This record gives sequence, structure tokens and C-alpha cells, in this order.
Amino acid sequence: MSEFTQEQIWHVTRSFNRLKAAHNDFADEFYFILFERAPAVRAFFPDHICDQSRKLEETLELVVQNLPNLAVILQPILEMAERHVGYGATPEHYEVVRVALFDTIVQMTPFGLSEPEVQAWDLALQSICDLMVGHAYSLAS
Ligand code: HEM
Repeated sequence: MSEFTQEQIWHVTRSFNRLKAAHNDFADEFYFILFERAPAVRAFFPDHICDQSRKLEETLELVVQNLPNLAVILQPILEMAERHVGYGATPEHYEVVRVALFDTIVQMTPFGLSEPEVQAWDLALQSICDLMVGHAYSLAS
């Protein structure tokens, strides 16, 4: 599991606070971008994405809060990864989701992201996706 430096944690937390303070429905925007890039996955989701957006925002919040020690939320993350196999998610989808999430955060965070914030988010999103994919798809083999 990735370990984050104090500085990386600070960069993610600080920019995430800017994003939340903007109340700009960034998760809705994320799904808009995702469905534009990967139209085939739209059918995996319920018609109304509102609830889903809230759950994604809550999960991101949980991840950001626990970056200093991801082990605390490891079990729920792994269980979520297992549920995602049932939703039809593949490792390739994670790559599309990871990049769409990253691009949405860059786009929707007030004042954009500084270079260290970019690096820190990149690592954080990659780490979560690696955990989920590494767990869910090694179970099958
Ligand atoms: C960073 C990776 C991801 C995170 C943090 C994430 C987060 C979530 C959360 C919190 C939920 C709510 C339900 C639950 O907890 O099981 C959810 C549902 C869902 N996710 Fe993800 N997800 C990720 C990647 C993906 C990928 C790669 C796909 C594939 C397209 C996907 C497809 C879905 C679908 C279809 C649902 C809705 C299921 C339903 O309500 O019927 N997710 N996701």
C-alpha cells in the first residue's frame, strides 16, 4: 500500500477543501465526462446519477481523510472493489475512471491544481485504483 508524505497529504487535502467549498457538483461533472468518454458504461449505472454522485463524493472524502493511514479504510475499499466486479467494472474501466476523475478534479477545483497538487492527486487516485483492481481481479485467478 502506498505511503504518502506529509506534504502530499497536505496538497491533496488543501485542494480537496477548495473543491468542496465551491459546491460545484463535481461528481455530476465526473459522470458527464466519464459517459462522454466511455458511453458503454452508462448502462451499468442507474438512470438517475444523483445518489451515485453523493456516494462517490463521500468515498473520495473518506479516502482523503484517511490518506495518512489508508489501512484504516482498507477493508471497506476492498469490499467496494468486490462489489464493482458485480457492477461489470473491468481493470480497463478503472483506467478510464481514474483519468476522468483526475481531469474532473483538475477542471473543477477553484484556481486549478498546482504542480505538487497534480502529483499528489495522481498518486492518490492511482493508489486507490491499484488497491481495488489488485484485490478484485486477483480473486478470480
Ligand atoms: C476510483 C475507483 C472507483 C471508486 C472510488 C468508485 C466508487 C463507487 C461508490 C462509492 C459506489 C456506490 C456503491 C458501492 O459502494 O458499491 C459506486 C457504484 C458504482 N460504480 Fe464505482 N467506483 C470506482 C470505479 C468504478 C469503475 C471502474 C466502474 C466501471 C464502470 C464503476 C462502476 C460503478 C457502478 C456501475 C456503480 C453503481 C451500481 C448501482 O448502483 O447499481 N466504478 N462506485
